[in-house]
Amino acid sequence: MKKELAWPQFITNSLIMVVGSRNRSQLKRPTWIILFIFIVCIFLIAVYVYPPQSTSMCSLFSSQGCGTRSSSTFGLLTPEFSRPLNEQEIQSRIVINEILKFYPVQSKIPKVAFLFLTPGSLPFEKLWHMFFQGHEGKFSVYVHASKEKPVHISHYFVGRDIHSEPVEWGRISMVEAERRLLASALSDPDNEHFVLLSESCIPVRRFDFVYNYLLLTNVSFIDSYVDPGPHGNGRYIEHMLPEVEKKDFRKGSQWLTMKRQHAIIIMADSLYFRKFKYYCRPNMEGNRNCYADEHYLPTMFTMIDPGGIANWSVTYVDWSERKWHPKSFRASDITYQLIKKIAYIDESLHFISDAKRSVEITPCTLNGFKRSCYLFARKFYPETQDKLMKLFSNSTMF
Ligand SMILES: *[C@@H]1O[C@H](CO)[C@@H](O)[C@H](O)[C@H]1NC(C)=O
Ligand SMILES: *[C@@H]1O[C@H](CO)[C@@H](O)[C@H](O)[C@H]1NC(C)=O
Ligand SMILES: *[C@@H]1O[C@H](CO)[C@@H](O)[C@H](O)[C@H]1NC(C)=O
Repeated sequence: MKKELAWPQFITNSLIMVVGSRNRSQLKRPTWIILFIFIVCIFLIAVYVYPPQSTSMCSLFSSQGCGTRSSSTFGLLTPEFSRPLNEQEIQSRIVINEILKFYPVQSKIPKVAFLFLTPGSLPFEKLWHMFFQGHEGKFSVYVHASKEKPVHISHYFVGRDIHSEPVEWGRISMVEAERRLLASALSDPDNEHFVLLSESCIPVRRFDFVYNYLLLTNVSFIDSYVDPGPHGNGRYIEHMLPEVEKKDFRKGSQWLTMKRQHAIIIMADSLYFRKFKYYCRPNMEGNRNCYADEHYLPTMFTMIDPGGIANWSVTYVDWSERKWHPKSFRASDITYQLIKKIAYIDESLHFISDAKRSVEITPCTLNGFKRSCYLFARKFYPETQDKLMKLFSNSTMF
């Protein structure tokens, strides 16, 4: 302590001597150099003892402090950082910002890639066949079957299985399967928008409507909201610090769509992926059960490109029963009115898990215009397919 206090006094004295030496020729050159080297050494020791991350040293080097300095250099897309970023975060931001700034040349006929995440055969293949028919060249199909090799009946699906690994519900293997699908689809440069679907998903709109809806907007439809309750922020764990703070933690449906740039960012990201792999999983300390597929992408994209995501999912699901799993539709539920109702909903609902069990209602608005929220819906039992196909064959379908 005494030594530290003595330093500034010593440095001041030495500086006076050095500056003074210019005028006074009696201080010989070798002494001058030795003194200078001595001061440099003390400076280096000081930097070693107080590394520049600490705020005291930051304010020493910059009149505005570290926070402001890093935000002006690296915060091109997220203007405020309450703390200095670490090396990995800075490198990650640079890659992300480069990808976001780069607008790839649009292909003549852009395609929408439909990525199916399923255990085995797809129960709605006939319905999807009907959906795709007549739109050749405007879409591509990829299937990740995690349990058994699917039997395909539609030529749009034959030969479209990608290499797969087992997937455990609620585990990181789910996110890994999503990354595998994105990687396969990215290898086709014409794929400009990517849609992640489960085996229980159905379309509620016609192909052209879906195609224009996704390609004419410049956002990814990634659901993202704050749930202050036990099934939202209650899943957050401090081990995610410093990269992921509790205020940044988001929840959202895993059934999302995204533009090509965002898919590339997912390929490039290992920083946030690893955080969620290790610290967002079932059976963590304090009985925490975190599900990476519901938190990783909503949290990351809200942090790195909040204006680039719509904050709602275009896949409808009915959570109104507030059970562990959403309502599943049976054949007896299927009517023209039901599908019409889903297709024309223009507000998205978020069920909050706090004590009040509140529901957050947000209009689906993009660039100032309110629009219908949904293109797809889940969960439907396979028995609903015949009725759905009859509905779709009605030429007045939406
Ligand atoms: C999307 O387009 C709108 C208007 O064309 C623009 O205001 C907005 O900044 C764009 N968003 C992104 C993420 O490029
Ligand atoms: C999505 O939510 C974020 C805040 O989390 C907001 O900054 C952004 O503008 C929202 N996106 C759109 C398209 O409204
Ligand atoms: C076809 O659509 C019309 C609405 O335009 C509806 O009234 C009719 O019930 C539908 N037909 C079938 C078979 O669902």
